[in-house]
Amino acid sequence: MKITTIIGARPQFIKAAAVSRALGKHPGIYETIVHTGQHYDRNMSEVFFSELAIPEPHINLGVSGGSHGKMTGTMLAAIEEVLTGDPPDFLLIYGDTNSTLAGALAAAKIHVPVAHVEAGLRSFNRRMPEEVNRVVADHVADLLLTPTDTATANLAAEGVAAEKVHQVGDVMFDAALFYGSKADRESKILETLGLEDNNYVLATVHRQENTDSPDRLQAITSALESIAEDIAVVLPLHPRTRKLLDAGGYLGRKNGVRVIDPVGYLDMVMLERGATVIATDSGGVQKEAFFHSTPCVTLRDETEWVELVEMGWNRLAPPGQADIAASIRSALGSVGTTGAPYGDGEAAGKILDVLAAA
Ligand code: UD1
Ligand code: UDP
Repeated sequence: MKITTIIGARPQFIKAAAVSRALGKHPGIYETIVHTGQHYDRNMSEVFFSELAIPEPHINLGVSGGSHGKMTGTMLAAIEEVLTGDPPDFLLIYGDTNSTLAGALAAAKIHVPVAHVEAGLRSFNRRMPEEVNRVVADHVADLLLTPTDTATANLAAEGVAAEKVHQVGDVMFDAALFYGSKADRESKILETLGLEDNNYVLATVHRQENTDSPDRLQAITSALESIAEDIAVVLPLHPRTRKLLDAGGYLGRKNGVRVIDPVGYLDMVMLERGATVIATDSGGVQKEAFFHSTPCVTLRDETEWVELVEMGWNRLAPPGQADIAASIRSALGSVGTTGAPYGDGEAAGKILDVLAAA
């Protein structure tokens, strides 16, 4: 069986790493990896391939930047050409980025079956580009591989045929388990940054709704500055946010917040494990906070990972509405209930089983 995998953005490299690793136990499945080029800086792309031993992409389409329509449309045309030249038995797509949407549409139009990993997530906020991407991807997909009960229920509520849906668990949990111990052995990031274990706040910010709203971005940076008066704050900054904060002059006058470049996955895992609290608008980082037992404050109006809020590991602090600094302070030292909403750490193997049986 031949599968073609589309990846392009940072979280997709991490998810695909788990599946590529599991391919070793499925000798009958041959994978062609296509990188759209959406993320291209060394520390947003290449670092993950080398650290996580993901096979080199067979093709890099080199498409990045521009408006949503331009980026998605350019990718769509390029992916169509790849699929037409060498049609696979399945196109494998991950998550909810523009690379995901372009892959889904290109394949569906030329009748290449689509398997969607991380299907069924919903924020119910159609102003998010990711929500549009994931809804469309789910409704053209032939196999929907869901991470949670909530995701499976969302698809049932939208009328997706139950036989297409397979709840396999979350591949990010597979990755956290496997690479967690590797990070413990190999990462020296706490020493490098002079951070004391369990005595700092880790923050990440990149979501369009936050970066493109000066009020929301200001609410986040002010809250982090206030927290930095009490406890170290480290902010590995996504290039999107760096460009905006730089343009607004923030990086010249930041007060106490330790702004660093994006780090590799092993260093990120180590930073997540050592943090007292994580404040983030990232989807993946919210879950990793739970995987590594670190309380989380989510800098958004809603989350797709509702189970973490229900379990008490996560709380929402909508920028511009909530007192973010107070939310972070109240999360310090908090714990949630235990549970296993993301499966058993074998999601990647299950995905390949479903594909092999299809
Ligand atoms: C994208 C995804 C988002 C995901 C995030 C993961 C979409 C619509 N959004 O958002 O769902 O959470 O990736 O990180 O697909 N840039 C660089 N270097 C890079 C990558 C980006 O400088 O290596 C800058 C460019 O100015 C670019 C901007 O960041 O225009 C935004 O990048 P883009 O891929 O469009 O969106 P993300 O915000 O990264
Ligand atoms: N990540 C990383 N280095 C960083 C920031 C994040 O390796 O400096 C990892 C993080 O551990 C998680 C993934 O990137 O696995 C999350 O990606 P991101 O926040 O960019 O996107 P989202 O999950 O919100 O789509």
